[in-house]
Parts: sequence; C-alpha cells; structure tokens
Amino acid sequence: MVRGLWMGLVAWSGLGLWPLAGGQEPEVPRVWNDADLAGLELSIYGLETPIRHLSEQEYYRLPVRPIYRSYTVYHPDHEPAGYRDHLATLEPEIVFDAGELETRHMELEEIFATHEAIPPGVFARHGDSPFFPARVPSLVGIADRGYLDASGLVKHRDVGDLMRYIALTQGMAFHSQYGDWSPDPTGQFGTTERYGDPQLRALAMFLYSLESPENPNPEPVEHQKRGREVFAAEGCAKCHTPPLYSNNKLVMAPGVRVAKDHPARADIMNQRVGTNPDLTTKTRRGTGFCKVPSLIGLWYRGPFGHSGEVSTLEDWFDPARLEDDYRPNWSPPGVTHRAVPGHEFGLDLSPEDKAALIGFLRSL
Ligand code: HEC
Repeated sequence: MVRGLWMGLVAWSGLGLWPLAGGQEPEVPRVWNDADLAGLELSIYGLETPIRHLSEQEYYRLPVRPIYRSYTVYHPDHEPAGYRDHLATLEPEIVFDAGELETRHMELEEIFATHEAIPPGVFARHGDSPFFPARVPSLVGIADRGYLDASGLVKHRDVGDLMRYIALTQGMAFHSQYGDWSPDPTGQFGTTERYGDPQLRALAMFLYSLESPENPNPEPVEHQKRGREVFAAEGCAKCHTPPLYSNNKLVMAPGVRVAKDHPARADIMNQRVGTNPDLTTKTRRGTGFCKVPSLIGLWYRGPFGHSGEVSTLEDWFDPARLEDDYRPNWSPPGVTHRAVPGHEFGLDLSPEDKAALIGFLRSL
C-alpha cells in the first residue's frame, strides 16, 4: 500500500505536461458520482454482488490530499554520495496548485528521472497478489484503450473513468466492499484524504499526453514488409487490429463461462487464447477475462504476457515455453520451471518468418 501510494506520487511529478490552451479553465468533471461508479467495473469472477465503493457523499466529505514533491529513488549502486542525507534536510514542498497548472513546467530530465525510478517488469499491488501479480503496463497510448488492467476490470469510457481509476488505485479501493469482505475492515490503511477532481484530471491529461519515444534501431524495411505479410497470413489482426493493434476486446480465460446477459457481452470474444487464468480468476482484479493487449511499443517494453512470464518476444513465439522444463521470467515462489501455456499463434513458423514477424512487431 505504502509503496503503491509512493509510486503514484512519483508519477505525479510529470504534471508539467498538462496540455492546456492558454488561459482556459479546464472543465473538470465531478469524478466520484454514484451514477458513473455504478457502471465502472465488470463484476469480479466468482463474486455474486457488485463491488460497492464509498458513496459520492462519503468521498467528497474527505479532505483533498496535498501533493508533495517527490524525488528519484536510485538503485543502490547508482545513488549519488550523500543523497539520502541531503533529502533528509529538505522541507516537504507542495507541488500541486490547481491555480498554477498552466505555468508549472518540468525539465525533461526530471520527468525521465522520475519515470526511471519506477521499477520495470512485474508488480504485485492491492487487488492482485504476489502469487498472481500483473505486468506493469505501458501507459503510452492509454487514451485508446477500452479497458484498464490486464483483466479489463475497469472500463475506460471517458476521462472520468481514468480519474476514477486513479482515485481507486491511490487508496479509495481500500474503502470498497467486496461481497462480505473489505480490504481494510479496521480502517487502518485506507486513505483519509482524496485527490481533488482538478488533480485527478491533471494526472489523467498527463497520461494522455505520453508518446512513444522514437525507435532508435528500426528493423530493415524488407524485414518489416515480410513480417507484415506473416502477421496478416497468421490472422493476428483479428485480435491485434491496426491501427491500435488491439480490437479492445476481452477473451475468456480457460474454464470461464459468462452469462448471456453479461454487461460486457458485446466485447467478449468467442475465441480463447488459453493463457494462465490465475490472475483473472483468483484475485480482486479478476474478471474471468484477459484483454487483448495493444502491440504498439513492443520494442521498448516487456516482459510479455499478463504476468510478465516471458522476457523476450523470441521466447513468446518459441514453443519451448509450452513445456514444463521452461524457465519463465516470473514464477510463483518456490517454482523455477513451468510451462507458459496458451497463445499458440505463430509458434510453428519457419525461423525466417518468425524473425521477420518479430522484426515487424518491433517496428510498431
Ligand atoms: C484470438 C485473439 C488473438 C490472436 C488471433 C492473437 N493474439 Fe496475441 N494476444 C491476445 C491476447 C488475449 C493476449 C494477452 C494474453 C495474456 O497476457 O494472457 C495476446 C498477447 C500477445 C503478445 C504479448 C503482448 C504483451 O504486451 O504482453 C504478443 C507479442 C502477441 N499477442 C502477438 C500476436 C501475434 C504476432 C499474433 C499472430 C501470430 C497474435 N498475437 C494472435 C490475443 C490474440
């Protein structure tokens, strides 16, 4: 929890990128309203009742939390001498003032350093589990995603949904009731403050403004061309539909059945991919689905798969990962070797076609 909050605060320090036309007051929606909250999430797989969150009235009774300046955390091998002692001498500094949003500017280095501090890979946070953690997703291109979380738990209908997602992630979910279970029955951990709606909107706008860096090692054009043909011939575009390289749909995990009148019915595919169902059937972020991820930016991100089980694209398309003696990038405690099942698309290609396909994917 503390770590999650802390990481959230680090993410805040990119506020300088708010893309606001000079002098205009942004229209900030009243984000925590009962009507929109009611339709925000899919139901949790295996839980009869919908998730109940703090009511609109309870939420707005909480004081708005101040946002303090945050500082880079270095890997111990790279921390400048005396860094922590220096930090200890600084006074807390409030960095968010809704009235000053247009003038606050951050240096690129500061933004990069802030993002560098966030550990790459896989992360267990509230709602999932150290046993079934989720890969840290890229936030670039989030504006185009129809669902948030690997399991598609939260709908992304508009900026308000993203703001609600942020509020939940930054502590509100601790006040939520999941059937007869609550993450914080004694009220010890749940935040006693909320973000102001202008704060939430500012962060959402920052996320929307993120763009991919330029690919420094573009694949040879011929290679990309052949790879594009393989992509088309293998039927990848049915799910990874350009230009987003995702159809924004949900795929049922193995063994999952859903009612005909499921509210997300229109987005649920008939075809399954057969990847590990644990994250999406055994956690509070589990919906029984896995969303079709976008393939944009594969060249600079990873690991792959919803729990980051595979560290390279070469491994993702290697049939060796289907075997019990495969050593995944991530495994539950005490396990070193296990199969990473499912998503068998492209596994039986010739070495040339596979290399071309991967080259094409790295060009996206
Ligand atoms: C039936 C839909 C479907 C088809 C067809 C499909 N995929 Fe996927 N793909 C998915 C889903 C769903 C996932 C996420 C699986 C998971 O994480 O458990 C995924 C994951 C991936 C990933 C990992 C991405 C990441 O961010 O972790 C890559 C790469 C990928 N697919 C490429 C391809 C390619 C190339 C093809 C064709 C050879 C293909 N896919 C065909 C649905 C599909």
